[in-house]
Amino acid sequence: MDVFVIIGILIFYGCLEIGNGYFESTNRNFGDWMQEAGGFFALSLLIKPLLVFTVYTLGTTFFADYQYILSGQNFWLLFITYILIDDLMQYWYHRSAHEYEFLWKLHRSHHQAEEMGFFISYRNAGLYYILMPNIWWVALFTFLGGALPVAIGLILKQIIIIGSHSTLSWDKVFYKYKFLTPVINVLERIFITPAFHHAHHGKTKLDGISDPNGNFGNMFSIWDQIFGTAQFNHAFPTDYGLENDPKENWTVSYFYPFVKAKDPENEMSKNYKKPDTRTFEPAEVTLEKGKQYLYCACGNSKNQPFCDSSHHGTKFKPVLFEAKRTGKVRLCNCKATKTGPFCDDSHIELR
Ligand code: FES
Repeated sequence: MDVFVIIGILIFYGCLEIGNGYFESTNRNFGDWMQEAGGFFALSLLIKPLLVFTVYTLGTTFFADYQYILSGQNFWLLFITYILIDDLMQYWYHRSAHEYEFLWKLHRSHHQAEEMGFFISYRNAGLYYILMPNIWWVALFTFLGGALPVAIGLILKQIIIIGSHSTLSWDKVFYKYKFLTPVINVLERIFITPAFHHAHHGKTKLDGISDPNGNFGNMFSIWDQIFGTAQFNHAFPTDYGLENDPKENWTVSYFYPFVKAKDPENEMSKNYKKPDTRTFEPAEVTLEKGKQYLYCACGNSKNQPFCDSSHHGTKFKPVLFEAKRTGKVRLCNCKATKTGPFCDDSHIELR
């Protein structure tokens, strides 16, 4: 049931985007379509049914007494339990996909999209979905007798998620009229808005709007607020995608780790290791007063001491700072400074 309703939601958003000039303005290529539309059908018709079948087979074989144990319980109690646990798990799964290298490679294609749109949320490697705890949770909760709360929860969640990826951002009207600001200030503290999620897809923090290392929530923004990764901006990035994206073939993005990139410099290639580009000398650079810079904190950038986005798949985040004066400064290149981004001579102890 939920698959049919979700197709309906996609058709609804798709028609609106098409009416708004989707086909005239999009630069999507064949690979993008395969990942977005192909990814959706693979998930709905193959991966999800397979995982549900697995849980049902295991459940009826080993835990038959527990089947439908929740049926007859209060609907609202089941619904709230299902949706909160689901969204909390997805927050951490999504966040982990930005902080751990293997998961990042399964999620990376989601961030390679240089345009937003109604299909974007289905752009991930197939294995990303197989490992996603939420699909197992859907199957388990259904097995236990919570099919209705699951179906309704999934539909509401998809309305929010597809909407937050769409180019037709419903929240724009709230930023246009000042008197609506208090309303959106409350809404965005609970639900994920398009502006909140578009910021997560923006290319760089240097634009003052994007935060590719934050805003991880899916349905509710409460987890980002609790765990300190929320950033609320009533604006949208202009540049989406990954910096220095080598744009490998879509088969690599979708079938990783079973298909790998041939270019040894590509992080999706066999035996790829992030380069350690730290040095035990500070970098002397000339900065311009008032200009903002992104300092590399991970030690993997090929453009030291500045960030080149190599930190994706690690827990490190670049440090945004503004130059207070024009002139030469010593920026830390050993990444051990306590006065980052400036050198505090910590490198001397490390030599
Ligand atoms: S490359 Fe971005 S923090 Fe190192």
